[in-house]
Amino acid sequence: MSTDPAPAPATSVIPGVTLTTGAGGLPAVAIDTPLASALIYLSGAHLARWRPRGHDEVLWLSTTSQYLPGKPIRGGVPLCWPWFGGHAQRPELPAHGFARTSAWTLAATEALPDGRVRISLSLANDADSSRMWPHAFIAISTVTIGETLEMELVVRNPGTTPFTYEEALHTYFAVGEVRRCAIHGLAGTTYIDKVRALQRSVEGQAPLAFSGETDRVYVDTTAACRLEDPVLKRTITVTKEGSKATVVWNPWAAKAKAMKDFDDEGWPGMACIESANVAELAITVPPGGEHRLGVRISVQRHP
Ligand code: BG6
Repeated sequence: MSTDPAPAPATSVIPGVTLTTGAGGLPAVAIDTPLASALIYLSGAHLARWRPRGHDEVLWLSTTSQYLPGKPIRGGVPLCWPWFGGHAQRPELPAHGFARTSAWTLAATEALPDGRVRISLSLANDADSSRMWPHAFIAISTVTIGETLEMELVVRNPGTTPFTYEEALHTYFAVGEVRRCAIHGLAGTTYIDKVRALQRSVEGQAPLAFSGETDRVYVDTTAACRLEDPVLKRTITVTKEGSKATVVWNPWAAKAKAMKDFDDEGWPGMACIESANVAELAITVPPGGEHRLGVRISVQRHP
């Protein structure tokens, strides 16, 4: 008697979208359409690459990243959830939560009439997550790939008590030389400076420039950010919804060297602008409710 094979996951296969294996043999979704190419790992629902047609790669990816199940990928867009940074009470838990190291399920692929493709992945509570975060949840990460990039993280509460979480779409951008870049959009915004013992300061009127290790949580900001890159001759614009914090990070030379999965010479070529809800801006979702964090990224080439 023959045994039926296990049912295939409920995914629709559409032109330009293939199920593949990425680095380290990790399962991934590859997108290659007339509008753009991209790569999303199921581990962490991690967008590793996005290149709109006619442009260079927009995301930075470490050449020494690990690609192991249960380990974070260095670069692209890690999903930090349900806490940001170290866990406040349990330092032994993984930094930035467990979403970025969990095995997500491919939930849907969709071809939009304008040529973009939309990929959704889902994650729900299980015994492992409950040991770290004792709540029932459904998280859906949706990435829409085209000439622009849209990402959203929707978190639903199917349980009977409210829960509270932090989150960030930890976007690593590839830049020509970080010391020559400027970020517009944060003028006059209060930030928590993680390089200066969490001191709170207010950003001046000049665009943010990088001159050393930078690790700042800008609070109470829903503003768009514009990353001006005179070396790659492009401007990256990040707009967001459902996010009241923006994190800006570059580890600089010594910290980059100390991280095994961060190429020692890679730090001048990256800048993180993370759309987030962290610290006092953590999100509380009532039973039956949901919260949506959405980000849109576009690239303009300089003349
Ligand atoms: C940033 C944090 O978002 O992520 C930094 O603000 C942190 O403090 C960085 O160092 C990288 O974190 P990780 O866990 O990926 O090494």
